[in-house]
Amino acid sequence: MKILVTGGAGYIGSHTVVELQNAGYDVVVVDNLSNSNPESLKRVAKITGKDVPFYEADILDRAKMNEILDKEKVDACIHFAGLKAVGESVAKPWEYYENNIAGTLTLVDVLRNHGVKNIIFSSSATVYGDPAFIPITEECPKGQCTNPYGWTKSMLEQILMDIQKADPEWNVILLRYFNPIGAHKSGTIGENPNGIPNNLMPYITQVAVGKRDHLTVFGNDYDTPDGTGVRDYIHVVDLAIGHVKALNKIKEKAGLKIYNLGTGVGYSVLDIIKNFEEASGVKIPYVIGERRSGDIATCYASAAKAKEELGWEAQYGIKEMCADSWNWQKNNPEGY
Ligand code: NAD
Ligand code: UFG
Repeated sequence: MKILVTGGAGYIGSHTVVELQNAGYDVVVVDNLSNSNPESLKRVAKITGKDVPFYEADILDRAKMNEILDKEKVDACIHFAGLKAVGESVAKPWEYYENNIAGTLTLVDVLRNHGVKNIIFSSSATVYGDPAFIPITEECPKGQCTNPYGWTKSMLEQILMDIQKADPEWNVILLRYFNPIGAHKSGTIGENPNGIPNNLMPYITQVAVGKRDHLTVFGNDYDTPDGTGVRDYIHVVDLAIGHVKALNKIKEKAGLKIYNLGTGVGYSVLDIIKNFEEASGVKIPYVIGERRSGDIATCYASAAKAKEELGWEAQYGIKEMCADSWNWQKNNPEGY
């Protein structure tokens, strides 16, 4: 089976290409490199010992996407391509709606014109907004997003559901990721943010490697055990394997399916700092700052549905997540 991986040069995409190739799938990557470096795919090839066919293309470029799909007879698409910086999306909503929504609409149209009606979509726990209950099951109602990025995920879920409903030949799997961190054991691929990291773990690793002098903890007055925000961190390799498992649902022609990909365990910001310090032996200086606008207190998944229906469960714990994030950063202080 041949899988089109959009955004395959990025953080989650590159790890997923490794697991797909290891599982025996053929892969074709499309990425416009707007937030990635093609070196990631060279390193993937080193890990798996297999070439990674790559097209530098934008999913909005219908002519080029048509050309690629004329040439490559793919069976399904795993769709990672998208812009994902929450703060930037507030400043540039048009760019986010254009890239993520118009891009996906073009991609889906080109796919169906080539008889490909199988898609796995990168959604996010952000669609739950401030969740109605915890742990969050897939039945938890979707909520109000606090930024355009989140709305693109929420809207694209609705768009893909409507397309599947109108044409049941489509198999649509919506995967709602919680907080991916960590890196491949080899330490050769990992998260490589441009500029100042928005997310907790890359910020911590940049402090550890000496690129930034301290972390600011965004608020310690939340209604959580230590007052700092609680999240469901998941090892990126576990997340990648979740996509390989989800392909089985495509093969079963399962129609529409929605799964949380998380561990079911929540850790606070201070828990993460402590675990990272233990795993790396490096002290992380931090100060307590103001709450970040749009943040919620607590967000962790019920991972029961993915376990029951996909036979998937996260294997790595917080210590490995921290150790592997550090291994990547320390071996690649400047990224790729
Ligand atoms: P990433 O930025 O590393 O990867 C996304 C890739 O898509 C990049 O390589 C980028 O160059 C490419 N891309 C963007 N727009 C494109 C376009 N128009 N055409 C072709 N390629 C394009 O991000 P990631 O962390 O690997 O995230 C992958 C997906 O998972 C994204 O859709 C993201 O929104 C979603 N997601 C990520 C997280 C997270 O915390 N990392 C959480 C939930 C969901
Ligand atoms: N945090 C800090 N200091 C920092 C960065 C983050 O204290 O410098 C805190 C946040 O306040 C939050 C926790 O660390 O309590 C995690 O923050 P992240 O930015 O790493 O992750 P979020 O849960 O805010 O957001 C992530 C992705 C979103 C996605 C969301 C839900 O960035 O794209 O998970 O899936 F939508």
